[in-house]
Amino acid sequence: MSSVGNGDTPLVEVKNVKKYFPIRKGLLQREVGAVHAVDDVTFAVREGETLGLVGESGCGKSTLGRTIVRLHEPTSGKVIFEGRDITKLGTRALRPLRREMQMIFQDPYASLNPRKRVGSIIGTPLKIHGVEKSKRRARVQELLETVGLSPEHYNRFPHEFSGGQRQRIGVARALALNPKLVVADEPVSALDVSIQSQMLNLLDDLQKELKLTYIFIAHDLGVVRHVSDRIAVMYLGKLVELSPAEDLYKRPIMPYTEALLSAVPIPDPDLSDQRERIVLEGDVPSPINPPSGCRFHPRCRYMTDICKEVEPPLVDFGRGHLAACHHPLNVDRETLERAKVSKRHSPDAADESAKPRDSSGRSDPVPGR
Ligand SMILES: Nc1ncnc2c1ncn2[C@@H]1O[C@H](COP(=O)(O)OP(=O)(O)OP(=O)(O)O)[C@@H](O)[C@H]1O
Ligand code: SF4
Ligand SMILES: [Mg+2]
Repeated sequence: MSSVGNGDTPLVEVKNVKKYFPIRKGLLQREVGAVHAVDDVTFAVREGETLGLVGESGCGKSTLGRTIVRLHEPTSGKVIFEGRDITKLGTRALRPLRREMQMIFQDPYASLNPRKRVGSIIGTPLKIHGVEKSKRRARVQELLETVGLSPEHYNRFPHEFSGGQRQRIGVARALALNPKLVVADEPVSALDVSIQSQMLNLLDDLQKELKLTYIFIAHDLGVVRHVSDRIAVMYLGKLVELSPAEDLYKRPIMPYTEALLSAVPIPDPDLSDQRERIVLEGDVPSPINPPSGCRFHPRCRYMTDICKEVEPPLVDFGRGHLAACHHPLNVDRETLERAKVSKRHSPDAADESAKPRDSSGRSDPVPGR
C-alpha cells in the first residue's frame, strides 16, 4: 500500500521479543516445556508504512501481532510505541494506548460475538473509552459507511452477513477509536478470491484517508505483494528475512523465502512453466523443540553441516535487506564481503547437489508484473 507520513520515524519497535507459552502437565500442573511461538524477534515499523508479515501456519505471526498490541505480554524483550516502552504497562496505563493500536482478527466468523448486534459490536470500544451514548450511534453509522456497509445494518446480528461483510464489521470495530497502528491478521484469507481485492482496496483507501500504519499478516507472499512497503518473513518463531517488498520478490536471500516465492501463482502460463516449484518436504517442525542451528535446516536444499550447528544471525545485505542464512542466495561477492559473511558461509560452501545454478546464487524469483 502507499506509504503515508514521513516514513522515517518508527511508530513501533520490537526488540528481542520472545513469547513462550508454558506447557503444563499432571495434577500439579508442572511446567514441562514451552512453545517457542516467537523467539527473539527484532524490527521496527515506520509511521505510515505497511509491513507484510509472512510465514507458514504456526510460525508465530498471530502471536507476534498480539504481543505488539499487548494482547499478550512478552516473555522477554521490549515493545516500544512512539518512543515509549510499553512492555510492562499494566491494564490501566495501557488503556489510552489501546485506542492507538488495534487488531483486525484472523477469523471473521469467530471474532464477532453472535449474540450481539452490529451496533453494539462496533460501539463497545467507544463505550469502554467513555464516548457518550448519544454520540455513539452516529459514530457507528459513520463507520459502517466508511467500510462500505449501510447505516441500516446497525441492528443486525453477525449471522445475517457474508464473510466479507463480517470482515468489514471487524475493520469498522478496529477503526472506531482512530488508531495509529492496525495489525491486520490475515484479513482476506477467509474470504472468496473475488472479494479479496475489494477488501485490500478498502484497507488501502483507509490507510491513505486515516494515515494508518499497518502490520499486514498473511501466510503466502502472493497476497502481501501489492500491499506491502516492506516484508518480514518468519519461520518457526524467528524473523529470517526483512526487505523492501520489490527487492524481496526480485532477489530472495534466504532459501525459505525462495521456496515461499516459488509457490506464488504466476498468471502468465509461459512464465509459470519456466519456473521451478520448490516443494518443501515435511511439515514445519514443532516449536516445542525447534531444530538446532538454523531452524529451517531439516527442510533446506542448501543445508550443510554448519547449518545444523550454528544459528545464522540476521545480516544486513544493504539497502535495508536483512536475512539469516549461512549460504545466502542472490548475493554477489562484494556484498558478501561487505556484509562480513565469511567465505565459508557463501553459496559455494553448499553441497554440489544443493548449489544454486550460478556462483552469484541466482534463484527463481517471481517476475514482476
Ligand atoms: N495461547 C496459546 N497457548 C499455547 N500455545 C499457543 C497459543 N497461541 C498460539 N500458540 C502456539 O504458538 C505457535 C504459533 O501460533 P500462531 O497462532 O502465532 O501462528 P500463526 O503463524 O499465526 O499460524 P496461522 O497461520 O495458522 O494463523 C503455534 O504452535 C501455536 O500452537
Ligand atoms: S542454507 Fe543453511 S542457514 Fe541457509 S536456510 Fe538453508 S539450512 Fe538455513
Ligand atoms: Mg495466525
